[in-house]
Amino acid sequence: MTAIEPFIRWAGGKTWIVKSLVQIIGNLQYRKYYEPFLGGGAIFFAMDHSHNCYLSDLNNELIETYIAVRDMPHAVIDHFVKYNNTSEDYYRIRSMNFDDPAERAARFIFLNQTSYNGLYRVNRKGQYNVPYGRREHWNYNCTKIVAASQKLQKVKLQCFDFEGYKNRINENDLVFLDPPYTVSHNSNGFIKYNQNLFSIEDQHRLSQFIDFIKRKGAYYILTNAAHPVIREIFQKNGDRILELNRSSLIGGKKAARTIVSEYIFTNIPEEAENDE
Ligand SMILES: C[S@@+](CC[C@H](N)C(=O)[O-])C[C@H]1O[C@@H](n2cnc3c(N)ncnc32)[C@H](O)[C@@H]1O
Repeated sequence: MTAIEPFIRWAGGKTWIVKSLVQIIGNLQYRKYYEPFLGGGAIFFAMDHSHNCYLSDLNNELIETYIAVRDMPHAVIDHFVKYNNTSEDYYRIRSMNFDDPAERAARFIFLNQTSYNGLYRVNRKGQYNVPYGRREHWNYNCTKIVAASQKLQKVKLQCFDFEGYKNRINENDLVFLDPPYTVSHNSNGFIKYNQNLFSIEDQHRLSQFIDFIKRKGAYYILTNAAHPVIREIFQKNGDRILELNRSSLIGGKKAARTIVSEYIFTNIPEEAENDE
């Protein structure tokens, strides 16, 4: 099966480093594949999996959507095509709650595609509250849903914390970890801590989880913000650290190009990479 595009947009999506990650995995012979911070699944969808795959995320609506896409893609599409990319339709659909799983998934994908920047944000009552995105060139192709469904057949999907599959991990399995950022520099160069989403304690817990993966004789790849605090937490004896850069547009009206850096930590040996 070939690489396909994610069917949703996701903050922190890793499409831009797919090529490097696929190269790092190279010819590695691994058994099961785990991705416990699934989001839009850029890496999962880019890889060829002849293995058992275990995907998960803490976002319940997201995982429900994946399950509906896996099990009933055409029912999801039948609901989805009824919606229009207008402000009226957007706010009407946003205010609705559906019981039917296919309809819930169609709503989730529609809001994701037409909202401002595809953000996922809920208010205190757990209601999605991102404004309409006014995307003029919206042209969502439903074949993405069908392709994703095919790739998700036989894949296990769960909504839980990243340690949820811990007891299943065994020798020669591969775990890809892409947590939310906790630290970044603000425009003055000061460190910002994102305590609500994923705290610095969570990063330490993740580091211990990686120690567990290594003790089991399994492989891991971690992507994280290129920041000294992160390097200190995740630097492990004998493992590799790579740094990737890309230019990114920030700053609204006074938009300026800036360099975003990402660390990749892994215990996959360099020999696994192919030279293509
Ligand atoms: C950076 S995003 C992953 C992006 C993904 N790799 C992609 O390409 O779209 C991080 C994800 O972690 C999830 N998350 C946050 N805290 C978590 C936790 N404690 N356990 C598992 N998932 C969590 C978020 O819901 C989010 O989808």
